[in-house]
Amino acid sequence: MKRAVVIGASSGMGMEISKLLLADGWTIGIAARRADKLMAFKELNPDRIEFETIDVTTDDAPDCLLSLIDRIGGMDLFFYASGIGKQNRNLDTDIEIKTVATNGLGFTRMIDAAFNYMANNGGGHIACISSIAGIKGLGPAPSYSATKAFQNCYIQALEQLANQRHLSITFTDIRPGFVDTALLSGAHKYPMLMNVEYVSRKIYSAVMRQKHICVIDWRWSILARLWSCVPNFIWRKLNL
Ligand SMILES: NC(=O)c1ccc[n+]([C@@H]2O[C@H](COP(=O)([O-])OP(=O)(O)OC[C@H]3O[C@@H](n4cnc5c(N)ncnc54)[C@H](OP(=O)(O)O)[C@@H]3O)[C@@H](O)[C@H]2O)c1
Repeated sequence: MKRAVVIGASSGMGMEISKLLLADGWTIGIAARRADKLMAFKELNPDRIEFETIDVTTDDAPDCLLSLIDRIGGMDLFFYASGIGKQNRNLDTDIEIKTVATNGLGFTRMIDAAFNYMANNGGGHIACISSIAGIKGLGPAPSYSATKAFQNCYIQALEQLANQRHLSITFTDIRPGFVDTALLSGAHKYPMLMNVEYVSRKIYSAVMRQKHICVIDWRWSILARLWSCVPNFIWRKLNL
């Protein structure tokens, strides 16, 4: 039996990926902070879904993860979709700190817990939705872009560490462009906005093919390559 844990399954891409895993025969453990959303999701297939309320910014989150893994009988795939992000042109420090606590500290706490579990239990696959926002520092979203760069680098480091320790852990770093989810709700209009079902199907395929890094979709992949080539003396003057 294939078993997956999805953190951040109460909405957006995490919820869509959970649906695809379920349709493909996986037993899933889903987690996030909103218990009502998780409970409603469990009703889709009570025999193959367990849920746990987890806030990744809290110290007990790794223990909650282990309890969830126990309840589904193991973990072959750890899919990390939790995250927050806001435009913050006025540099409200509270927003910046919360973003670092969730996307930086919370991410590290949970990815480490999954890595250590897999290191002690014969390996597995860790997939994480980071973003193309980590390619360069973005003026309108400083902590968001910085934490996404952190996530890209951290996954790369753990991949090397797993190889050094001869662990059978594989990684997929998923980097979508703009996706129409609650994270982007608000008055701002985003260009090249993608549908969440379309993006999630692409993510699912990349994870099943065990791709190391996957930019979604091809248009964003071209844009990401162009961005990374922009010299710093031009980038710092761009009006994004
Ligand atoms: N939308 C985009 O354009 C876009 C583009 C690139 C990358 N991403 C990334 O994709 C990931 C998923 O975002 P989404 O677009 O699908 O947005 P979303 O619908 O807002 O989903 C975010 C998920 O993260 C969970 N979450 C937030 N804070 C949490 C916490 N402290 N503890 C546990 N779970 C928490 C939320 O659940 P609860 O609120 O119930 O806890 C929710 O399930 C994020 O990492 C985001 O940065 C998004």
